[in-house]
Amino acid sequence: MLAVGRDTDKQTAARSKVPGLQTFAADLADPAQRLRLRDFLKAELHSCEMLINNAGIMRAVKFNRIADATAIEAEIAVNLVAPIELTALFIPLLRGRPDACIVNVSSGLAYAPFPNAPVYSATKAALHSFNQSLRIQLRASGLHVVEIIPPTLDTPMISADLRTAMKGQRMETVETVTSAAIRRIEAGQTEIPLGASSMLRILSRLAPGLLMRQMAAMNDRVSAA
Ligand SMILES: NC(=O)c1ccc[n+]([C@@H]2O[C@H](COP(=O)([O-])OP(=O)(O)OC[C@H]3O[C@@H](n4cnc5c(N)ncnc54)[C@H](OP(=O)(O)O)[C@@H]3O)[C@@H](O)[C@H]2O)c1
Repeated sequence: MLAVGRDTDKQTAARSKVPGLQTFAADLADPAQRLRLRDFLKAELHSCEMLINNAGIMRAVKFNRIADATAIEAEIAVNLVAPIELTALFIPLLRGRPDACIVNVSSGLAYAPFPNAPVYSATKAALHSFNQSLRIQLRASGLHVVEIIPPTLDTPMISADLRTAMKGQRMETVETVTSAAIRRIEAGQTEIPLGASSMLRILSRLAPGLLMRQMAAMNDRVSAA
């Protein structure tokens, strides 16, 4: 198993918990580091059973004030460019392995954008669209394309402002959501909305106006927090 991220302290801690885990330090926002990762994978990895694209960043970007173009580019690179590039790189390594699988982690915000995080929401909607195309392109190859669509999770990604605005609302844990996702992958599901993401999916189809009014209200609460 190989885990990729920037933080080498987290990688050292993970290696001590998971026997046999290999780690590779790379910033997926940096095109040169994505190339370095690609070269490493080409040289070291000759076959593979599963690619999980989980790295993600969510930023509040205020287009009604000054939006930082460099930060926007990094958000798109990590959330969208990296998973698409890694998918292209891994398909030859996954081909021919029984039950080989590409897992892309999107978000309930793929179904309805959260205006406070407009770039993040757009990347997750784009990743959802990419998964749909990829699944159809790869259906004859035996490769499964799984999209895990988490609800709000209690992780460092959730900012203090968002936590304040969500006061009283339940946040799922990574452990609960991961266990449910594994059960549903084993049951053969490919598009896997979890927790409140299932409701967002239904509302986006049946009551999109109502859903966007709720998202706007949440945006206003976060802005006021
Ligand atoms: N938290 C939520 O409410 C929520 C809801 C729906 C979907 N999701 C999705 O779930 C996934 C995991 O998010 P999380 O909640 O666990 O967030 P998190 O605690 O902030 O973790 C983000 C992960 O992405 C990696 N990462 C971030 N930027 C990176 C970069 N430039 N290069 C390489 N790795 C990078 C981090 O590793 P390093 O720090 O080592 O770089 C870390 O492992 C994301 O795709 C997120 O969009 C989260």
